[in-house]
Amino acid sequence: MFDVEWTPDARELADLELLLSGAFQPLTGFLGHDDIHLVHERGTLADGTPWPAPVTIHLPDEVTPGDEVTLLDPEGVPLAVLTVTEHPADGPAAGPVRGLGAAEHGPFARLRRTPDEVRVELGGRPALAVTMRGPLDDLNEILATAKELDAVILLLPLSYGEAGPALVRAALKAKGQLPESTIVVPVPLAPREEPEIDLELREHIAFSYGATEHLAGPDPVRIPGPPHRRGLVVFFTGLSGSGKSTIARGLRDSLLELGTRTVTYLDGDVVRHLLSKGLTFSKADRDLNIRRIGFVAAEAARHGGLAICAPIAPYAATREEVREMVESVGADFLLVHVATPLEECERRDRKGLYAKARAGLIPEFTGISDPYEEPDDADLVVDTTHISVEAAVEQVLARLRDGRWIR
Ligand code: ADX
Repeated sequence: MFDVEWTPDARELADLELLLSGAFQPLTGFLGHDDIHLVHERGTLADGTPWPAPVTIHLPDEVTPGDEVTLLDPEGVPLAVLTVTEHPADGPAAGPVRGLGAAEHGPFARLRRTPDEVRVELGGRPALAVTMRGPLDDLNEILATAKELDAVILLLPLSYGEAGPALVRAALKAKGQLPESTIVVPVPLAPREEPEIDLELREHIAFSYGATEHLAGPDPVRIPGPPHRRGLVVFFTGLSGSGKSTIARGLRDSLLELGTRTVTYLDGDVVRHLLSKGLTFSKADRDLNIRRIGFVAAEAARHGGLAICAPIAPYAATREEVREMVESVGADFLLVHVATPLEECERRDRKGLYAKARAGLIPEFTGISDPYEEPDDADLVVDTTHISVEAAVEQVLARLRDGRWIR
């Protein structure tokens, strides 16, 4: 037996919370192969109980049945213990979960209630649950239905992810225009991809909370803000000496002159003097370096900022991770491949590093004795062999204007 700690992803943590609160009753843990199969095939668990959607978790490969896995939140607080009953290679793990009674935190945590608590509050009265993924545009329908059923209104904002707090605010605002008895309880239900399954799950949860009737609030058409207001990460990748830093600095200066965007600049060499000081050029350290850069860039972009990064970032999978990190905060990601060929970088050899690498004085040197995976997903490719710095910067600016990130 093996005891591990593991931090599930945001979606899994949301499901965990619903498992622990009882909102996912009769489920008491993550589903195994047979249950998942039958949920897909005929909408029931293996024992025949109706259940609409898979509830799964991925664990590290080394975890085997019989292990007890302590599930942590991203800040490291132990939330629950999962007793693993199944863990097929390449598949999700299954097993019951037991809560550790960690205090809930996060925006509007004080409003959360377990289904049992809400049922007590309802005291057997009929209740109309309205599950919300966006603001309610028609309170009249809700009022009329509640009146007809003589029911208490139970607003369940399905607060998940970045938009969660705004959704709870919308529910509280709606409560102000609804009868005094209206109850608001945030429920962290991550959306399911298939609309019918999502709807069935919402209904299921509504009934867990004691509702006698369920109304699905309108699904918001997600209208992201215009590009010039959205966060943006311009991520340069390329060999040492390709001109990344020079173009990135030129871009930063042009943007500062323009003055319409707040700019954060994370140069590869500068990062390595502080944020990533002490890291080597091993694959693991390079990946960590890029993740750190991605983390900071995503934080800047989360608040609508424009971050410019210019590391070598030689690995495609790590660049992809950064793209996902940035997009998960609702910002845009632009990968610029500074594709100046190795021969040209080596010919310039402005820092004399290529000569040293050839002489074997610098091990693991990108392009010489260490890999550089050329991007096949670049949003822009710039080769500086035959163009000036100004022209290269202009190509990037043109791309930003085209995408309406700057006006
Ligand atoms: S990355 O691989 O982790 O993205 P990063 O951009 O931070 O690299 O650092 C690259 C810079 O470090 C190069 O411009 C060069 O000046 C210096 N450097 C020192 N050793 C190496 C090496 N082995 N490979 C590449 N760059 C190196």
